[in-house]
Amino acid sequence: MYSDKVMDHFQHPRNVGEIEGASGVGTVGNAKCGDIMRIFLDIDDETHIIRDCKFKTFGCGAAVATSSMATEMVKGKTIEEAMQVTNKAVMEALDGLPPVKVHCSLLAEEAIHAALWDYAEKHGIVIEGLEKPKSDIHEGEEDEEY
Ligand code: FES
Repeated sequence: MYSDKVMDHFQHPRNVGEIEGASGVGTVGNAKCGDIMRIFLDIDDETHIIRDCKFKTFGCGAAVATSSMATEMVKGKTIEEAMQVTNKAVMEALDGLPPVKVHCSLLAEEAIHAALWDYAEKHGIVIEGLEKPKSDIHEGEEDEEY
């Protein structure tokens, strides 16, 4: 049911933890399952390169695996490049997720966006394509994939 990569990132998650004095922090939840995700970003103010990224979650295995992969994918990237790290890109990097677990991968994407939003607000910058984060990933959305 789960790919080897998903199992690997679930059993050995990368970048778990916190960054003290992080440049940006984002927290999102999924009201349907009650899972919560928090992402910490360390961003270079000059180059806008994400030097470090860590996550903490109270979430299911798929949320752990996607966050682990997502944090690996945004590290070393610029803010603009990190915006391309969508849940779809993360799922592809993990060789897919079962359809009922696709929404879990949204937690990582939304939490990264929320952390970037936090950074942008603190520095008075606008990140192209970035929208104000939702506190719940299902906010304002019709029931879709269930
Ligand atoms: Fe809640 Fe996966 S079941 S994030």
